[in-house]
Amino acid sequence: HKVELELEAIEKGGFDHFMLKEIFEQPRSIGDSMRGRVKADEGTLQLGGLSDYMDKLAKSKRIVIIGCGTSWHAGLVAEYIFEELARIPVEVEYASEFRYRNPIIKEGDIVIAISQSGETADTLAAIELAKSKGALIFGVCNVVGSSIARATHAGAFTHAGPEIGVASTKAFTAQVTVLTLIALAAAKRKGTISDSLFRQLLVELESIPAKVEKVLQAADKIKEIAYIFTYARNFIYLGRGLNFPVALEGALKLKEISYIHAEGYPAAEMKHGPIALIDEDMPVVVIATKDNSYEKVVSNIQEVKARKGRVIAITTEGDTYLPGIVDFTIEIPKVHDILMPLVSVVPLQLLAYDIAVMRGRNVDQPRNLAKSVTVE
Ligand code: G6P
Repeated sequence: HKVELELEAIEKGGFDHFMLKEIFEQPRSIGDSMRGRVKADEGTLQLGGLSDYMDKLAKSKRIVIIGCGTSWHAGLVAEYIFEELARIPVEVEYASEFRYRNPIIKEGDIVIAISQSGETADTLAAIELAKSKGALIFGVCNVVGSSIARATHAGAFTHAGPEIGVASTKAFTAQVTVLTLIALAAAKRKGTISDSLFRQLLVELESIPAKVEKVLQAADKIKEIAYIFTYARNFIYLGRGLNFPVALEGALKLKEISYIHAEGYPAAEMKHGPIALIDEDMPVVVIATKDNSYEKVVSNIQEVKARKGRVIAITTEGDTYLPGIVDFTIEIPKVHDILMPLVSVVPLQLLAYDIAVMRGRNVDQPRNLAKSVTVE
């Protein structure tokens, strides 16, 4: 038993938990998911596993993205990116809903299945159903040789490396990275992106690992904030646009490992319900980065403050306004709007981790959850 414990300590590489190790691995896993694919200096992008299918992708009339849990959230991020860059309509579906709904699949539709493990039963069944209706299926998986990787026609692997913590972290950012590459490649082939934006995004992508590294340096500050909210009973997470799925993912992380009830909402929807919950006991995490929805998010924050909610804002470095109106801020570097989720999710992962540790939870193996759900 002692030997086992020592082995585990070595595997954790000096971190207290696998989850923390995996959060800190993200500069590398994001980089690994781009390696050999993105060449910013040459202005090129190659996806070996999809190269024979690029024409079909560029000509596709609709993309249906399927997944479960965190992978579904990565799909929601991808929806914004595909529509914005490649102008292809996207629908994102829970695999478990898609498979029982007699879904409409037409000629020219492409299904993208996202799965870290490559073994999720609902996602696999959804793939088989879409296949039987004649869809072309791409996979975005982390495990080579997994059932989903084998069931798809083509795909692009995430190169996040093994993820042990039940709550997914580095797999999510790797999925978003790879999906962004697929969207960029489709946009380039379709001609819906200018050369200059294409090149700019490749350069920006290459800068993401260093920016994530910078967020990780704020870990101590995040821990102090976590300490203050350790015994909160509820949390609300708000974001708009690409940061809306990040709000969902932040809330999911907290639920999964701390067992605190948390809800993610698009910031503007707050007034259609959740605002009723806000009082001085309600912590509200708002992703309020300087992007095209900044002004709108600021007014949503004012609505929360007017009801005495306690706001933790994720802000862009150099924002001098928000620290004056919210309770706590966590700064992240300036990032291109399209790539924001890769960086803005990181402080939320750390916040959830710290709160769970302070509450004495089993972070790597939370109750009732499994890493890979092979039953429906
Ligand atoms: C489980 C895991 C989640 C994961 C989901 C989908 O619920 O606990 O972390 O996001 O399954 O798994 P997949 O391997 O298909 O991405």
